[in-house]
Amino acid sequence: MATHTTKTVILGGRGMLGSDLARACRQRGLEPAVLDLPECDITNSEHLQQAVSGAGLIINCAAYTNVDGAESEAELAYRVNAEAVGRLGTLAQHADIWVLHVSTDFIFDGRGDKPYVETDRPNPISTYGRSKLEGEQLLADSGCRHCILRVEWTYGAAGENFVTKLMRRAKAEGTLRVVDDQVGSPTATIEVSGAICELLKNRPEGLFHFAGAGYVSRYEMARFIVDQLSLDVEVVPCKTSDFQSPAARPLNSRFDCGKIQRLLSEPIEAWQVPLERFLRQL
Ligand SMILES: NC(=O)c1ccc[n+]([C@@H]2O[C@H](COP(=O)([O-])OP(=O)(O)OC[C@H]3O[C@@H](n4cnc5c(N)ncnc54)[C@H](OP(=O)(O)O)[C@@H]3O)[C@@H](O)[C@H]2O)c1
Repeated sequence: MATHTTKTVILGGRGMLGSDLARACRQRGLEPAVLDLPECDITNSEHLQQAVSGAGLIINCAAYTNVDGAESEAELAYRVNAEAVGRLGTLAQHADIWVLHVSTDFIFDGRGDKPYVETDRPNPISTYGRSKLEGEQLLADSGCRHCILRVEWTYGAAGENFVTKLMRRAKAEGTLRVVDDQVGSPTATIEVSGAICELLKNRPEGLFHFAGAGYVSRYEMARFIVDQLSLDVEVVPCKTSDFQSPAARPLNSRFDCGKIQRLLSEPIEAWQVPLERFLRQL
């Protein structure tokens, strides 16, 4: 089905992923309706109804994404990440609109060291993760046509993320302590956006994992960034348990992306390639 004949709505369209996605859509000839706070609060039923009205497809990038903040703002996290997503599903079901909803590796507990496949049992260990899992479940329960795309370790130009935080810390501190027991795949929001644009063509239904190819620890990722930018800073490995943070984080965030890869026209790039491009553009 030709996507340019239908109105594409991006919720959370000015966030880190949403803004890259809006650009990627425009580059492919789509003119998406880009909605975000304050004009479109997805917890507001009227706003949501207006967003859905006339839409051909909806991509939900809106989320409460403050992982530590969710431990003290659980009610807000659930309203945005769970209840609103369920309501979006009900509206989409009535209007027969396909929804692509973005989710996270935080729905897993991160125990073990195997890459997660889509059929693995979720078991979130943080309020953020639990709220996102409930969002996935409420969307599925709504009966709307939908696709859930779980992503992990994302970075992009429009937001705070591991890369931008590391660079800020590198400027302020001579030594960076970075955990070497969290393993996953750095994933550029530009790459996620490209994959989403491909999914828009056929609008598949179901659950998909997407991440940069290859696995690395946070420590190794930090070393890569420091080396690429020739920063004069020492990177020292440490453990997650060395830090006190309000929310627990999964140690194993590896995704098996075989399922989505079969739908994409190009192989997913090794994580180093988009990260190098991103660092060059800074
Ligand atoms: N960042 C990561 O490492 C990561 C990893 C895995 C999965 N994800 C998922 O990726 C998706 C996109 O997140 P992101 O990284 O682009 O984070 P982001 O930059 O925080 O984007 C989320 C957007 O949603 C907006 N928003 C928050 N509450 C809203 C509400 N009630 N109504 C409408 N919009 C609202 C935010 O606005 P404000 O900025 O004004 O709050 C922001 O523009 C989310 O589903 C997230 O769970 C992210």
